[in-house]
Amino acid sequence: MIPDMKKRNKPHPYSTTHAAIQSWYTVQGRHDLPWRQTRDPYRIYLSEIMLQQTQVGTVLERFYFPFLERFPTLANVAAAPQEAVLKAWEGLGYYTRARNLHATAKMTQGVLPQTAAELEQLPGIGRSTAAAIACFAYGEAVPILDANVRRILYRFFRRRTAKTPELWRMAERLFDPEHPYEYNQAMMDIGATICIPNAPRCSFCPLQYSCRGQAHPQRYPTTRPKKVKPVRRRTVWIFTDGEYYGVRKGQERFLGGLYGFPQSNRDLVGTYLGDVRHHYSHFTLEGRVVLTDECPEEEVQMHSLDAIEALPLSTADKKALQLLKHHLS
Ligand code: ADE
Repeated sequence: MIPDMKKRNKPHPYSTTHAAIQSWYTVQGRHDLPWRQTRDPYRIYLSEIMLQQTQVGTVLERFYFPFLERFPTLANVAAAPQEAVLKAWEGLGYYTRARNLHATAKMTQGVLPQTAAELEQLPGIGRSTAAAIACFAYGEAVPILDANVRRILYRFFRRRTAKTPELWRMAERLFDPEHPYEYNQAMMDIGATICIPNAPRCSFCPLQYSCRGQAHPQRYPTTRPKKVKPVRRRTVWIFTDGEYYGVRKGQERFLGGLYGFPQSNRDLVGTYLGDVRHHYSHFTLEGRVVLTDECPEEEVQMHSLDAIEALPLSTADKKALQLLKHHLS
């Protein structure tokens, strides 16, 4: 073969940016996050599921370690009833995640598959979460595309709008296949601390020399004004026979498997205990909590206060229970 025709590895079009991201991550990366100090696929998977809809601070301070204490392995999750998993998820919200976690534990018998393609087949694991787990636990060279990375890409490629398949292509273009772990973790950190929605800190960003959007980062992407959440006003119906209290198991998709007090659109005759307010993803609940001996319109299970406290409850129902305990004390 003529030496000049030898195939040479061309440098990656973004090799300079990749080098800048690597150096930045070495110095500025959040290396102390516990899911970055382990290669245990379950601990990494759990962190990615919790972080899908909950901020790092909340997950770290209140949920990640207690959950692992209760369920040290995925096999422990598989062996537990769904109710116990929901109980450990209590307060974290978006309970579909906990139901899917339980389903995944059972389907895999506690042993996660090792590729993004297989992980993506499991309930609750989309393409980006599958990529994050495969990359962080097994070193697979695949990019991620969470909300933070999307924002970076919109700005980097100066795009006001883009559909998801296009964003994936952008993610692949910028990706550093030589250092997938550091690149993906760095992108999450950059999205969380530098390329933030308002007033991004471009002068600290390792992407600043090739970012096309940095003259006007706020223009990318176009953001729709936030919809105002509707308010649902309800009476929270605490039915008692004098000793036990009525609760029902939620069937709705978003609180399925959790227990709570029945709710009603109408006023009830009884003792007003106070108000509860809770923000859900798609509405705000404003509940007037009433203790009454009037039988609810739906079927309930009668339990003691202690038994109710041991059930997985939604945050709004926990607040109602606190009002009841305060009233009884
Ligand atoms: N959000 C989702 N995954 C994350 C990770 N691995 N580190 C920090 N924030 C994240």
